[in-house]
Amino acid sequence: MKPLKTHGTHILSTGSAVPSLCINNDMLSNIIDTSDQWISTRTGIKERRILANHQSIIDLATEASFEALNKGFLDAQELDLILFATSTPNDLFGSASQVQTIIGAYKAAAFDITAACSGFVIALAIAHQFIQTGVYANVLVIGADTLSQWVDWSDRTTCILFGDGAGAAILQKSQDNDILTFELNTNGQESHQLSIAYKSNQKLDTSKQVNVAPKNKSQYQYLTMNGKEVYKFAVSSVPASIVKCLQKTELEVEAITWLLLHQANQRILETVAHKLKISNNRILSNIQFYGNTSAASIPIALNEAFNTGHICNGDIIAISGFGAGLTWGTILVKWNIIQ
Ligand code: UT7
Repeated sequence: MKPLKTHGTHILSTGSAVPSLCINNDMLSNIIDTSDQWISTRTGIKERRILANHQSIIDLATEASFEALNKGFLDAQELDLILFATSTPNDLFGSASQVQTIIGAYKAAAFDITAACSGFVIALAIAHQFIQTGVYANVLVIGADTLSQWVDWSDRTTCILFGDGAGAAILQKSQDNDILTFELNTNGQESHQLSIAYKSNQKLDTSKQVNVAPKNKSQYQYLTMNGKEVYKFAVSSVPASIVKCLQKTELEVEAITWLLLHQANQRILETVAHKLKISNNRILSNIQFYGNTSAASIPIALNEAFNTGHICNGDIIAISGFGAGLTWGTILVKWNIIQ
């Protein structure tokens, strides 16, 4: 029997895209009972980008993917796998295959991963497994969501939080390993705290073995969230997850150069940093410009931080996602992009 050989995972490049339509807090306060002051102080959000009618999540995902491919000097035909982390596909059967066709990645397997705000971290961990085992050499990981299409714009407790966007990263088989460790968790008992529930109106008459035509089409409800409970969950489970990763790698918290958390609320980012005794100037945050873009928030912030020269080679980044499921997880990355 051949000895099992494992490979390293290198982050080759990143990309991101947001819609051009920008809605600031003052504009929202004209349609619902809220204020720039409330939103800014409670969340850190000043504005968010919203998909225009003629655009779709695929436009954002492909734009982010093309940026990553161009920056990595990689032809789309060299991709072996596309992982599309999204909870807002434009086809319930999955949107990854549409991205595969548009970018011309004809040799790549492609599928969706549904894990809301933890989706990008989970997809990175999956890509890493495929590369480590030598199954695939080039994997495109996309995180994209358009929750503006799923929130109730008359519900001030949720609609002010979310924005649309996409981010991407290309992971490549390498001798060096940029992914130091990861850990993932789920607590399904609390899934009701944040959901977009499905309501079925279908009625199957089993005696006749026919499907009785429903009066109203089955449909998903608006996004609902128990903000307080999700907040408490985030500030307790994310620091614990990061500590677990540090223990696995025998690193001290001082080794972390950047804290890159899902951009849900500036107060969450700062509370997590405070609990870990990490200073605020080591938090990567762009929440004021985009709000919570769900699976896209981490890759957008990562791409922007690299483009603006914040992240340098040798930096260790603690990347944590958290949200619906409830799911959460951390991936520790040592940055090593060759420019
Ligand atoms: O991406 C998945 C992960 N998501 C998260 O991590 C989100 C976690 N949760 C949070 O970030 C916060 O809980 C929120 C930002 C959602 C809410 O902040 P909060 O400090 O927990 O506010 P609250 O829900 O306790 O509301 C405080 C008050 C309430 O009024 P009363 O009952 O004290 O009179 C709300 O009705 O603020 C009111 N309120 C608003 N006022 C103005 C709620 N939303 C608004 C609003 N504008 N948009």
